[in-house]
Amino acid sequence: MVKKILLLFGTRPEAIKMIPVYNELLLHKQEAETRICITAQHRAMLDQVLSFFNVEADYDLDLMKPNQNLYDLSAAIIAGLKPILEDFKPHYVLVHGDTTTTMAGSIAAAYSGAIVGHVEAGLRTYNKKSPFPEELNRLITSAICDLHFAPTHLSKSNLLKENIDESKIVVTGNTVIDALQTSVQLVRNDSSIENYFRGLDIDFSKRIILVTGHRRENFGDGFLNICKALKEIASRRNDVQVVYPVHLNPNVQKPVKELLGDVENVKLLDPLPYEQFVWLMDQSYLIITDSGGVQEEAPSLGKPVLVMRDTTERPEAVTAGTVILVGTDKEMIIEKTLMLLDDEQKYVSMSTLHNPYGDGNASKRIVEFILKKTSQEEYD
Ligand code: UD1
Ligand code: UDP
Repeated sequence: MVKKILLLFGTRPEAIKMIPVYNELLLHKQEAETRICITAQHRAMLDQVLSFFNVEADYDLDLMKPNQNLYDLSAAIIAGLKPILEDFKPHYVLVHGDTTTTMAGSIAAAYSGAIVGHVEAGLRTYNKKSPFPEELNRLITSAICDLHFAPTHLSKSNLLKENIDESKIVVTGNTVIDALQTSVQLVRNDSSIENYFRGLDIDFSKRIILVTGHRRENFGDGFLNICKALKEIASRRNDVQVVYPVHLNPNVQKPVKELLGDVENVKLLDPLPYEQFVWLMDQSYLIITDSGGVQEEAPSLGKPVLVMRDTTERPEAVTAGTVILVGTDKEMIIEKTLMLLDDEQKYVSMSTLHNPYGDGNASKRIVEFILKKTSQEEYD
């Protein structure tokens, strides 16, 4: 019997990391009928990804509101999914990561009686306030889900500590690497992307420092410190060009545009389509970010990362030495940036290619596991 599988996501990073699973499922149409439902918790930033990967959603809740809050969004997701789950009646629902869509989506999916699978399961900081609300979302989602696709052995061991049945956990690698591997060669061979950037006011003869940031726990003082640090780096070092595609969250846009809008050697951009962002990462000397996905991708491209967070649920890259946690302390951000600009040995050791997050086959492992499970169910 063909199993019905619903992939559910809502934000930019979820889409980047779930589309490889979708594409893999499409190779197995005789065993699985797969549909995509987007909550559109993000709108423009999600649509950029769907467009690059040429994917259309079967269901679109179109929920994003300007400066939305966690209460209304969570409620709207659960209520909005009811008719879709009742219409498609999926046997399996797959959610991804740690967003409000993940958490509320897994609740709704469990209400429908579907088997719920969590892609990128088992990341933990053990600090409910950081990252907020993502750590809460992960704890809730793990408690609800029936299958857990852990990107690393460490994430599997976190789940085992929470008494999750080992037979329900599979270590797969992170699908972000699947997406990156299929995109990076395309991007390197696409001269239109290079031409696009050369037409902007960015000095590529300088060393590019690529910046992204959006974490809620950094709103307020955190973002002010980050912007002050970037301003000082740009004014002290004429040999660097800071390029910062600014997240559309108004709590990020406001301070960043106010403090960095008119600073020499700093170029602010709108969020970039995934392909352009991958191209820019590839051209960068150094990346400064609080993003989860970016710190997973950068080691594959041999780029050192300074992570503007105090805690991390992704300690693998810190251990591997490709990432340093710098928090949002202004002096620390400046000090570590200058170190990587001036200490060649340190730079080389951090940019040695080693990615602890996967080999590009995570989606295959996820789909293999689900299909094996469905054939066992039939046998039983
Ligand atoms: C969300 C996730 C976070 C994830 C991040 C990825 C939650 C609570 N947060 O944070 O875990 O790491 O996405 O980027 O789930 N906006 C737009 N257009 C867009 C996207 C956002 O205008 O395409 C603006 C809107 O005003 C929106 C606001 O950003 O209300 C916040 O979006 P939201 O998804 O609630 O939070 P993020 O900070 O994006
Ligand atoms: N990204 C993008 N355009 C940008 C910035 C980031 O396509 O301007 C991609 C990046 O390659 C990564 C993902 O978005 O795969 C990370 O998303 P984000 O930082 O918003 O969320 P997080 O990973 O922290 O949840």
